[in-house]
Amino acid sequence: MYDLTALREEFPVLEEVIYLDNAATTQTPVRSVEAICDFFYDYAGNYGRGTHRLARETTARCEESREDLADFLGAYPEQIIWTGNTTGAINLISQGFSWKKGDEVLCTALEHHSNLLPWMALKRQGVKVSIIPQKGGYVDPDSVSDMITSKTRVVAVTQMSNVTGTIQPVDEIADITHDADAVIVVDGAQSLGHIPVDISKMDYLAIAGHKGLLGPQGVGALYAEEPQTLSESQYGGGTVTSVSFSDVVLRPPPARFEPGTPNIPGIIGMGPAIRLVDALGAEEIADHEEALGDTLFDALEEIGQIEIFSPRGSPVVSFGAPGIHPDLLATRLDEMAAVCVRSGMHCAEPYSRTFCDLGTVRASVACYTTSEEVLILADTLRELFDSWDPDSEPEYVPEPDRWEKSRCP
Ligand code: ALA
Repeated sequence: MYDLTALREEFPVLEEVIYLDNAATTQTPVRSVEAICDFFYDYAGNYGRGTHRLARETTARCEESREDLADFLGAYPEQIIWTGNTTGAINLISQGFSWKKGDEVLCTALEHHSNLLPWMALKRQGVKVSIIPQKGGYVDPDSVSDMITSKTRVVAVTQMSNVTGTIQPVDEIADITHDADAVIVVDGAQSLGHIPVDISKMDYLAIAGHKGLLGPQGVGALYAEEPQTLSESQYGGGTVTSVSFSDVVLRPPPARFEPGTPNIPGIIGMGPAIRLVDALGAEEIADHEEALGDTLFDALEEIGQIEIFSPRGSPVVSFGAPGIHPDLLATRLDEMAAVCVRSGMHCAEPYSRTFCDLGTVRASVACYTTSEEVLILADTLRELFDSWDPDSEPEYVPEPDRWEKSRCP
């Protein structure tokens, strides 16, 4: 196990709050923030443009981050395309295929909107989008076998649910997908940096910089096993080797997919963050987070007034409390003990609604979370329930019909 005390020194805000909203965004280590400041203070130039020293230094640092990410995944740098976020990565694929009427896409019922809406938008082009059912937070590979057809071109699946932290059998799903001559698109937003991720059967992996990889917001990436098979869907500076009014010669991947000046400081901040996560070790992080998940699950269960929607050991723990609006619960946790959790639909409304029409409260841990922190969440909940007086909470009762009709615990 790594040295948690030393690790936490990289994240000064952890002294101020009990940060349990890591599925939304993690904190960024000091080493990344310093790398970003160094860029602005010492050498800010553009990336891949210009021969002067600042442009050269900037380009070298950005390429170094690309290599760090490729090494972390076991990929080649040419297979890593910088995007703004996971959503951008998935849109790059959904718009980078030439679709024809009758093509099919399979998505799971667990997906975050970022791995659902880009596919649903293809319906306008006559693409059929079907939803693979989930049961208890898991997709059964047999359901994929049952639904896949010769017209299926893409199977889109999250590796780890952002609502319940359940891990999907992506390798088995990839085998089924490949047997049908389709490609698998894996949403790695919640898995990378939290559990070991093996890309060997993945055609595409959508990557968030600011979650398990601890990088800054506004940077994501797409791992593409064969990026040359994608078509570019956005055009502009940095993507070409030559242009005339009649002809355009594109640069090879990944540059052809990265039009315009990207989030250079963000990309530079990624490198040190990825190296830190790599040094901690994916197995070690997964073990640590699973132990935290166990601790939290047991503590919540002991309180007794809570319905827990995630399985024991999950690092993403969704729950609800009888008669208390998830947003109110989250607000009170912050007010009472600076406990930061997310509430609502978590941008995965179809799945979140299976638990409650108002969504859930979600606590999510990271490599730097301590067991003391998750126990503070449980203690604060107990304190809140002990003093709970619904009559003093008028601001969260504006939708009585919805509240009454909801299937919330
Ligand atoms: N996808 C992020 C979450 O789950 C924002 O909170």
